[in-house]
Amino acid sequence: MPFTAIVLAAGEGTRMKSRHPKVMHKVLDKPLVWWCVRAARKAGATRVIVVVGNGADEVRDFFAQEPTSEGETPVEFVEQAERLGTGHAVRVVRDAIGGFSGPVLVMAGDTPLIKPETLAALVEERKAQHAACTVLTMTPDDCTGYGRVVLDEQGQVTAIIEHKDCTPEQQATLKECNSATYCFCGHRLADNLDKIGNDNAQGEYYLPDLIKIFVSEGEPVGMHHAPEASEVLGVNNRAQLAEVTKVMQRRINHELMLSGVSMLDPDQVWVGADVTVGEDTVLMPQTILFGRTTVGTDCTIGPNSRLTNATVGNGCTVDESILVDSAIDDDVNCGPRAYLRGHTHLLKGAKAGTHVELKNSVVGEGSKVPHLSYIGDCTMGANVNIGGGSITCNYDGKHKSHTTIGDHVFVGSDTMMVAPVTIGENALVGASSCITHDVPAGALSLERSQQIIKEDWANRYWERLKEED
Ligand code: UD1
Ligand code: CA
Repeated sequence: MPFTAIVLAAGEGTRMKSRHPKVMHKVLDKPLVWWCVRAARKAGATRVIVVVGNGADEVRDFFAQEPTSEGETPVEFVEQAERLGTGHAVRVVRDAIGGFSGPVLVMAGDTPLIKPETLAALVEERKAQHAACTVLTMTPDDCTGYGRVVLDEQGQVTAIIEHKDCTPEQQATLKECNSATYCFCGHRLADNLDKIGNDNAQGEYYLPDLIKIFVSEGEPVGMHHAPEASEVLGVNNRAQLAEVTKVMQRRINHELMLSGVSMLDPDQVWVGADVTVGEDTVLMPQTILFGRTTVGTDCTIGPNSRLTNATVGNGCTVDESILVDSAIDDDVNCGPRAYLRGHTHLLKGAKAGTHVELKNSVVGEGSKVPHLSYIGDCTMGANVNIGGGSITCNYDGKHKSHTTIGDHVFVGSDTMMVAPVTIGENALVGASSCITHDVPAGALSLERSQQIIKEDWANRYWERLKEED
């Protein structure tokens, strides 16, 4: 059913001890607030409004750079200039968008583990209960800091009292806690927000105060208990951030394993929100797959590998390597210790071997850069072999220049290719050459001084040294 989602993300987040807004701290590769927005979208929100305040520009900039996929609900922002509490935040939204209609889901931007199914169930339940508000509740092991739900003898919600406003007895006995996620009837929410006062321990306008206001007006209020308390864990400090990250890591890895991906040790594999991995791929320890990374089938990735915005075909190995903004086609081998960056593309069957860096280069089908090389700004054809220690000299201190290498070229070891330069197809370059001029197709090019031989010279030298003793 269509509904509006409001994500509260304006708070100071003092307990994070950070220069950045709390909601921008990351769980795996995405900020806290992004996970909340995603859950709302997946639950079917037709409008997603993020309330920003502290560090508003950082939040806005992040979403501006996040591509919105086809059919995805765009994110709208409302600025809460003064942070006067969660009730005030929703009032600011109401005034900014000119009232509410239909169901309104309100959630906190610091509860990233919430599942779309749970949000959708909350929205459905409010409708079934014809409630002015249905609140998502939980019973965590430690209730400290959470608002407590007060129930009457029939188990009906009558109020929510913030931890700091509870009597010691209430703190000890009330176990049902407010998750800060609610579904409201839009017009009843809009009509009652102004009745919230700020006469409490923190001097804030508390959104959960609406519960007792509704109850006093005879409006029905409901409750929906979260399936797992971990889903609504709020992040207020960095220890909780790590805790939540661990839950998310396990959740994603579990799904991947059930879909046919193997992990030697899932606790040592970190996979981001938008990553896909194909069947029969093995992820070795200390592997990080972040950003818009896709990995095909039958690959072995890791150990010790980091892939960010990388596209990996089928049957590849990536061993102790880093791939950033780069792509490798089927049957490509990388590493140990290769570094691919800057839109590098390795075609089918190519190889980037050990201690090899490739930047902004295309390596053709079956071509190999096996050892100790830097290849930057280069277009390489098929079946090329680059000898160990060879380098494209692409930078003169100011400009970057291009190197073009044709099909079937053999470049001897320790060759410097001073760009801009072209080596024609089938050419051969002798080892240790400094190539500053184009090499025609099919030619041999050699740049090297004459080798000197002095017969018996070394023997005489060793003799002389011995005589000195
Ligand atoms: C809130 C609830 C509490 C609940 C708990 C669950 C209130 C008053 N209390 O407490 O009942 O048990 O969450 O985690 O709502 N925010 C704004 N503008 C503001 C104030 C807060 O946008 O003026 C945002 C914050 O950025 C945060 C969210 O609202 O994302 C919740 O605020 P926070 O201060 O973390 O509330 P809690 O003390 O955790
Ligand atoms: Ca909180």
